[in-house]
Amino acid sequence: MTTIDPPLKARDTYHLWVQTWRDSSAALLDAIDLRPGSICADIGCGGEGILPLLHRRVGEGGCVIGVDCDGDALTAAARLCTTQALTSVRLIQEDVLHSTLPRDVFDLVHARFLLSSLLRPERGVQMMVDLARPGGVVALQEIDHAGWSIDPQPALWPSLRALLAAGHGLRGDPNIGRRLGELLCTAELEAVTVRPVVLILYNRHPFMRAAVRGMADVHQQSVHAGLATVPELDALLAEVDCALDDPRTTMTTFTVVQAWGRKPARR
Ligand SMILES: C[S@@+](CC[C@H](N)C(=O)[O-])C[C@H]1O[C@@H](n2cnc3c(N)ncnc32)[C@H](O)[C@@H]1O
Repeated sequence: MTTIDPPLKARDTYHLWVQTWRDSSAALLDAIDLRPGSICADIGCGGEGILPLLHRRVGEGGCVIGVDCDGDALTAAARLCTTQALTSVRLIQEDVLHSTLPRDVFDLVHARFLLSSLLRPERGVQMMVDLARPGGVVALQEIDHAGWSIDPQPALWPSLRALLAAGHGLRGDPNIGRRLGELLCTAELEAVTVRPVVLILYNRHPFMRAAVRGMADVHQQSVHAGLATVPELDALLAEVDCALDDPRTTMTTFTVVQAWGRKPARR
């Protein structure tokens, strides 16, 4: 007999996202070779982002600035910093597009799941490049819906997937992952590296539902924009939830594209 999980709260959904992409984010920091004592920024850090990972790497002698425009997210981040004693972290509430942070200073400027919701992502990238020191690294992790699939495929999955992408498209680019290399090269970064991360989940892994539910605000926007009615959306979600409750169902996640490059040293 399968049991139906209770609905996920937004906070639980967010926590699952952070948890699910923790190892791949840690591997990214390993590839960049972030050193103790470094000064770095997590732009659009939300309630956690990769602040703990950065803190662990830079240590007491380093400094991590978490930036977000959302006060509630920063309140959650501040709570996390207290409970986990993230003493190197400082939090700043501001819009990255109008950042007041000092230019040419940071060893690493990182953003995860931010650019896909900016209407002008190239402006976000340019600001990140401005903040990095000459020789410093700008690193991005963004989604691309390419490849997101469920097996066996619920009949309504293509419709729900298309709706999620269309809803996301109202406020950004749900497939921005594939553009990261081009964005970094256009910003004149050197040694640009791009790599994809995809997870294969099974046996009712909680992120299978959280991945779909994580687009909750997209759902609301879709309804407001007339892309779907509430009953239509409920029917799509119910069918997909039912498929995900079967332990034999697997999900190949959307791709998280990681890309990074180095700001040229001053000539
Ligand atoms: C999807 S969440 C990702 C949070 C975090 N980076 C993570 O990976 O867990 C995107 C975050 O970016 C923030 N954000 C969006 N636009 C922003 C802007 N222009 N300036 C600063 N933060 C922004 C949102 O408030 C939100 O907390």
